[in-house]
Amino acid sequence: MNLRIKGGPENEKIPLKEGQSVLDALKASGVYLTASCGGKGTCGKCRIKIVEGQIRMEGSARLTGEERALGVALACQTFLKEGSQGDIVIDIPESSRIVVGDKIAVSRAQDLLGLVSSMGGRIEPAVKEAQVELPPPVIGDHTSDLDRLKLALDPLGLQGLTFSRDFLAGLGEAIRAANWKAGLRHAGGSAVSLRHLDGEGENKNKNKNEKFGAAVDIGTTTVVVYLVELETGRLIDAGSTYNSQIRYGDDVITRIVHATEGDGLDELRGTVLEDINGLINATAQRHGIGTGDIEFTVISGNTTMSHLFWGLPPGSIREEPYVPTVSYFPLLKGAEAGLNMNRSGAVYTMPCIASYVGGDIVSGILASGMTRKKEIALFMDIGTNGEVAVGNDEWLMTAACSAGPCFEGSGIRHGMRATEGAIESVKITPGLGSLVEIGVIGNHSKPAARGICGSGMIDAISEMFLKGIIDRKGKFVPSADGEVADRIRNGDWGQEFVLSQGLAGEVTLTGVDIENILRAKAAIYAGVSALIKEVGLDLSAIEKVYIAGGFGNYLNVEKAIIIGMLPDLPREKFVFLGNTSITGAYLGLVSEGFLREAEEIASKMTYLELSVSPGFMEEYMSALFLPHTDSSQFPTVEKLLEGR
Ligand code: FES
Repeated sequence: MNLRIKGGPENEKIPLKEGQSVLDALKASGVYLTASCGGKGTCGKCRIKIVEGQIRMEGSARLTGEERALGVALACQTFLKEGSQGDIVIDIPESSRIVVGDKIAVSRAQDLLGLVSSMGGRIEPAVKEAQVELPPPVIGDHTSDLDRLKLALDPLGLQGLTFSRDFLAGLGEAIRAANWKAGLRHAGGSAVSLRHLDGEGENKNKNKNEKFGAAVDIGTTTVVVYLVELETGRLIDAGSTYNSQIRYGDDVITRIVHATEGDGLDELRGTVLEDINGLINATAQRHGIGTGDIEFTVISGNTTMSHLFWGLPPGSIREEPYVPTVSYFPLLKGAEAGLNMNRSGAVYTMPCIASYVGGDIVSGILASGMTRKKEIALFMDIGTNGEVAVGNDEWLMTAACSAGPCFEGSGIRHGMRATEGAIESVKITPGLGSLVEIGVIGNHSKPAARGICGSGMIDAISEMFLKGIIDRKGKFVPSADGEVADRIRNGDWGQEFVLSQGLAGEVTLTGVDIENILRAKAAIYAGVSALIKEVGLDLSAIEKVYIAGGFGNYLNVEKAIIIGMLPDLPREKFVFLGNTSITGAYLGLVSEGFLREAEEIASKMTYLELSVSPGFMEEYMSALFLPHTDSSQFPTVEKLLEGR
């Protein structure tokens, strides 16, 4: 039996096997749907419409009666019906499709070279060069090329250098082409390449003798690559894309589950590798650089992403006592990683702290510079999950908040990532002509809003709270005034607030959405509170708050304080850093000193497991309110409420 997609070519048929879900059949043919829950039937994001044919549906709890009557089904819960004949024709709404490979705007990190020098760093990449001159062989002297090279390296103190098969395979030709005089490039005790001192020969790029490196941030949602000139630290180009693993689920847990099933681990490794290699190729090609001249790569990702990148089974990460296979990854080769780079080149992975605090946080703390100062600072990475750290130059403590991916759109009726068509800001002015003003990403006019992203959610909740549309528990207030009341209605999902109505459909926030957002913000705030109490301090001791994460680019601090997600501290204490995972990877790429500093950060960081922390649950329950049950913790918000 086959599937056909409405609007697609007549003869394009996708095989659908007995017992296989429509979601899996589409995936096997390269058609990817949003599958936030990884195909468990709980997120309701993989909606399709059955246009023709008979199907069997196993679960449809996430669908309304009206949707079911219209033939809407969840692809992950839809199977062949026994005895059915003919093809099944389906329609895939735009909102269900994932366009993997979508380009995401890269926030080019500030002035990177300026950052290196402001941190007192120097451009001294881990790939070093030793100039060698070998006596050319003559009849009667049978010393091999390798032995000849080793003899030349001895006086340079490089006796222990190891040589990969790939390096040896090119040695004979390269050393002759270089006329026995070359720069031997090496990293981590292993030979990488031979550089021609006259600038001719093996380098196919127009920059001849230049060598390059790649800094890679593997986020749960996005992947970012910086292509860098190693000798100068100059950022040549940057690229980013969605992490294609989102085909298998939005969060790390669904991906870990997928990795433990069948070929799941290979699929997950393969997809993210394709993303990274695609970005490396694209950036290198734009500048006429051969990927063989990329000699060093630094990978920064959370613990699960790092394990999946290296193809290491991540199962133990989600099983008590939550111990990963590797925290400190050895320096491995480009060939082992499968990266489009010099096969003998070195790949460094930022060290991880624990199962849910990974190399991306180590990178972030490195980039923030908080461990170089006496002042006590708080570091918050609000991305797909939410990690926090507190400390200074002497001590450091960290925790993972389990906030979940709701700010990325998961678990929210019209939730979506911060891409085109997402509502990113909301202003509510009761009583005036323009009651609800929305800002939509991508210069769209209001009717084109397709959904709402994390910053839009925070804006909407803070506005609804301040304007009395929802109460401290996040429940709709029945006495909301006339114009506002029109926007509150009873939908198939219970009470909801209509943010936008237009050609692209409606965008609403339901009561359940609000509960989910309150749970996420409570987890973040409770994580911060528990961590600070654990070290015997209170919030007033915090002198700086560094906010990182893709989400941090759009976060409105004021509104995040109003909903009680960020602590009510003087606004000048907050510093936005954007994507610090890629900034940290860049620092490590251009300076070995920063790599050592990252390792020091990892070794001195104490991890607090919040799930067994006695005070965490209490903190969490108190933070479920707007802004908090203890109003004294949010004095400026209370003042705002009084002045309403
Ligand atoms: S409901 Fe189908 S993937 Fe989540």
